[in-house]
Order: sequence, then C-alpha cells, then structure tokens
Amino acid sequence: MDTTVRLTVDGTEHDVLVDTRTTLLDALRERVGATAPKKGCDHGQCGSCTVLLDGRRHLTCLALAVAHDGAEVVTADGLADGDDLHPVQQAFLDHEGYQCGYCTPGQVCSVVGMLREAEDGDASHVTEDLETEPDLSDEEIRERMSGNLCRCGAYAGILAATRQAAGQQGSEQG
Ligand code: FES
Ligand code: FES
Repeated sequence: MDTTVRLTVDGTEHDVLVDTRTTLLDALRERVGATAPKKGCDHGQCGSCTVLLDGRRHLTCLALAVAHDGAEVVTADGLADGDDLHPVQQAFLDHEGYQCGYCTPGQVCSVVGMLREAEDGDASHVTEDLETEPDLSDEEIRERMSGNLCRCGAYAGILAATRQAAGQQGSEQG
C-alpha cells in the first residue's frame, strides 16, 4: 500500500510517495535523491546509512519511512554551511579519515550525533553545535563509534578526526 510521507531533508521539504514497507534509506536514496547515506549491509550492521534523524544519529536501513512522517533528516551533505564545512567534515579531511569514502557520510553523521550525546550525557537534548568539549578517551570514542564499520580500515584517521572534532589532542593512535 502506498502512502505519502513528508520529510525535510537537508533543509528542503519533500512529500514522498512510499510503500508502507519502504525503508527510510530507500526513500531517501530513491525518492528524494539524497545519496549521501549509503546502503552497505541493509541489515543494521555497518552504519553506512547513518543520518541525523530529528537530531539523533539513526540507521536508516532499519527505519520505515512511514514511521517518520514529518521528520527532519540531515545527511552528511546537509552538514556544511555552503562552502564552510562542518567541523567534523573538516576534521575528516585534516586527518584523512577515509580511503574509498563509502562509509564516510555515515561515519561523519555518527560522529556528529555521538559528540552531541556525549556532550549532553544522553541524547535527550540535542544542540545544533557543540558548545562544550566532551571529555572522551580514545577507548570511549572507539566504543561509541563501534556501530560504524570501515572496510578500508581507516580507523586511525577516523579516531584522530573525532578527537579533533571533540577538541581533544590525545596522543594515542590506532
Ligand atoms: Fe544500514 Fe548497514 S546499511 S547499517
Ligand atoms: Fe572505505 Fe571506510 S573508507 S569503507
């Protein structure tokens, strides 16, 4: 059965006709044309489909589009302000937190969401930008980012980028 859901994606409203079984990932990629979230496993195991859904990081392959009528979605493409990259995007560039780049949009969204969660203690109150610097150890960063896999193994760069984004300058690598 088809139904229409309204999604605001990277600041633009879309009325999208979807089957009730359509995942949010397929609605974004195939109906909206938002291709930053990637389909890796399609089973909630890799994190490549991560976006910010109403401010929180979310796996879109596990979400049904009909369950999120009226939601606000921010993909990695929507994080930048024109030519000004989001601090997390800049950090990934600075530290080469990628190789092929397939996992990168999901990694970036996950870092943004994770740092908000860390800043707030939980994810119940989401702020637009980091106002404080979460005090996260490298071990905590790895644990909090463990839902985002990278087949290229760019974890050292991802960790360094996350550390920079969090305002930290730890010395541990890898
Ligand atoms: Fe969603 Fe892998 S595609 S977790
Ligand atoms: Fe290739 Fe992560 S950069 S999968």
